[in-house]
Amino acid sequence: MQRTEIARIFENPVAWAEGEIVVCGWVRTLRDSKALAFMQMSDGSSFAPLQVVLEDGKTDDFKTARKWGAGTAVCVTGTLALTPEANQPFELHAARIALEGACDSGYPLQKKRHSVEFLRTIGHLRPRTNLVGAALRVRSAAAFALHSFFGEQGFLYAHTPIITTADAEGAGEMFLVTTLPMDETPRTQEGAPDYAQDFFGKPAHLTVSGQLQGEAMAMAFGKIYTFGPTFRAEDSHTQRHAAEFWMVEPEIAFADLADDMALAEAMLKSVVAQVTQQCPAELAFCAQYVDPGLTERLQGVLRADFARVSYTRAIELLQPFSNDFDYKPVWGCDLQTEHERCLTEKIFARPVFVTDYPKDIKAFYMRQNDDGKTVAAMDLLVPGVGEIIGGSQREERADRLETRLAQMGGDPAAYQWYLDLRRFGGCKHCGFGLGFERLVMYLTGIPNIRDVIAFPRTAGNAAF
Ligand code: 4AD
Ligand code: MG
Repeated sequence: MQRTEIARIFENPVAWAEGEIVVCGWVRTLRDSKALAFMQMSDGSSFAPLQVVLEDGKTDDFKTARKWGAGTAVCVTGTLALTPEANQPFELHAARIALEGACDSGYPLQKKRHSVEFLRTIGHLRPRTNLVGAALRVRSAAAFALHSFFGEQGFLYAHTPIITTADAEGAGEMFLVTTLPMDETPRTQEGAPDYAQDFFGKPAHLTVSGQLQGEAMAMAFGKIYTFGPTFRAEDSHTQRHAAEFWMVEPEIAFADLADDMALAEAMLKSVVAQVTQQCPAELAFCAQYVDPGLTERLQGVLRADFARVSYTRAIELLQPFSNDFDYKPVWGCDLQTEHERCLTEKIFARPVFVTDYPKDIKAFYMRQNDDGKTVAAMDLLVPGVGEIIGGSQREERADRLETRLAQMGGDPAAYQWYLDLRRFGGCKHCGFGLGFERLVMYLTGIPNIRDVIAFPRTAGNAAF
């Protein structure tokens, strides 16, 4: 008999209440008394488990099966009983239960709440827990939601390279990709590693952003987005930095910074609407055990217009709170997490776009404003997470771009193809990058990036 997934039963219990069905999954918990045992089992198709009732005299192998503990893989054949008055809307009365895979007594996921720190040490097993299970289900739903948003808006889904010879952010925080031997590295006459002998014939790195290639695609297709892994060799030991994370990067032609923010706001609202619809059980779990303010916050995203404030004005607004901060808000310095939180949680109490940052703290490709001091940048800050999106209008004037690149230590020869985009029918354009893990943190209220990515890579850790 074909197996029935638990999610299908939740969709339409009545349809499955006729005749025998087979459900295969893993025991979550088993509570037994003399003649009766209640098993919660999960097959991964739904967040909610299925309750299975085993009964002496009615279930074959009752005496063996009642000993199978958490983690055991089983296939249950039985009939579904609708129980609208009980805690769960139905239960499966087992006629037969077959062992698929026994579970060792050393199984670490027993029925109790484990700390997130402990769960990180069992990365191969923690997707089976409610917390990480909810995070990864929301993650999957959010990915589909993003694709559907951009697909409906007519964006081209572009794939940009993971190995690259361009430093998109000009920040130098890149992982080297090489096949040169580390012990006897071939050297040039000057003593530097001889990349001419390397796999690509020059230094190559894991990408920090698909933006530069994304811009080339936007100059052909008008509206594109990328969605892929990016890598940063930043030695940041925070709750919101990973060395490997996923980024969504739209790029739009004939558009300015206001268009860029409008797109970001519409995208975020659409994702929140879709995920709250598709993952009610996961979000209810997070609201109960992780972040009591979650439901209200997500509803707030749908209701309110996001605030917009210039960086210069933001610094002024932060002044009265100076005594609360470790770092004084000073014009010219990047906003610290504490400043971001104050803006989103106290001053505006909603998501806020901060625009027009000082040019010296932003990347070379951002469009220079007429004041000579700032660039047409925008960061979207959200309560709880801080910066979730970073974007800008791009410098489309070839001479200014080239000058700025050189000022910031870039080699114009290495970026010739990027500068070409300005010579061959360049136009006003802009884009942004959404940190996908930060989005999942925001959607679930989970405060640590290590718990919203199945196998996190952070400074000092690449386990599993
Ligand atoms: O602000 P960032 O560095 O912007 C860019 O990379 C641009 N090229 C994007 C663009 O305009 N196309 O990064 C964008 C977002 C941040 O706002 C943040 O959400 C996330 O990526 N991010 C990280 N997430 C996790 N771990 C890290 N180390 C991150 N660094 C950036
Ligand atoms: Mg940024």
